[in-house]
Amino acid sequence: MEIFVVPTASATGSVAAGILAAVIRSKPDAVLGLATGGSPLPIYAALAGHTVDMSRVSGFALDEYVGLPAGHPESYAEVVRREVTERLQLDPAKVAVPDGSAADPERAAADYDAAIRAAGGIDVQILGIGHNGHLAFNEPGSALDSRTRVEVLTERTRAANARYFSTAEEVPLRCITQGLGTIMEARHLLLVVNGVDKAGILAAALNGPVTADCPASVLQRHPHVTVVADEAAASQLAPGSGRVAVRVAGARAGV
Ligand code: GLP
Repeated sequence: MEIFVVPTASATGSVAAGILAAVIRSKPDAVLGLATGGSPLPIYAALAGHTVDMSRVSGFALDEYVGLPAGHPESYAEVVRREVTERLQLDPAKVAVPDGSAADPERAAADYDAAIRAAGGIDVQILGIGHNGHLAFNEPGSALDSRTRVEVLTERTRAANARYFSTAEEVPLRCITQGLGTIMEARHLLLVVNGVDKAGILAAALNGPVTADCPASVLQRHPHVTVVADEAAASQLAPGSGRVAVRVAGARAGV
């Protein structure tokens, strides 16, 4: 596991974007795992500034709410369309999001898992981390080998995501999420974490026991994990957590 610690949140986006740009230059038909939430947004903004041909790149979203009307601005399908597909000029036909409005969401989840495998798997999975240690929407207690499925959101997660909705009640109760086993099949995991409010959970995930109580701790078992964190988020990491490289703000890794 390699850990890049940078001074600011915007620098985490720049460093992560540099890593992704290098991957895409070496593999123009790269398959990216696309995360939503606040942490990845600077990555997509920074990647848009790179001169790299995105026309053959594919993407699979990590998760999607269940039950939002199609086209809802906070559905992850719409968030990915705005923040990734359009911003990076990806081919919309190459970007997939779980079908949160399917009549049978469990079947849609299983089909999504199969579609990822049929695409040859994910080259780089972009990840954030929830305050309770969730990855994607794998909440505490999720099996470490779980597959893409319907998950019930904890009230803490709903509250954390309420900032994107008009009212807290509008946040859906359920979602479709790539499972931890599905995520772990990606060839490279790229976790981006910002802010002192994530320092404790990041330390638990990287330095604590591997346990379903902290789903992100499963990262310790993956052979190729890159963590890009600002100094605040990295402030509780144990010395020697990984190869820690301090980057100058705005420096681009991998180029
Ligand atoms: C949501 C998303 C996760 C994301 C998490 C943290 O739960 N499903 O993929 O990692 O929020 O979001 P943020 O980066 O805004 O803290």
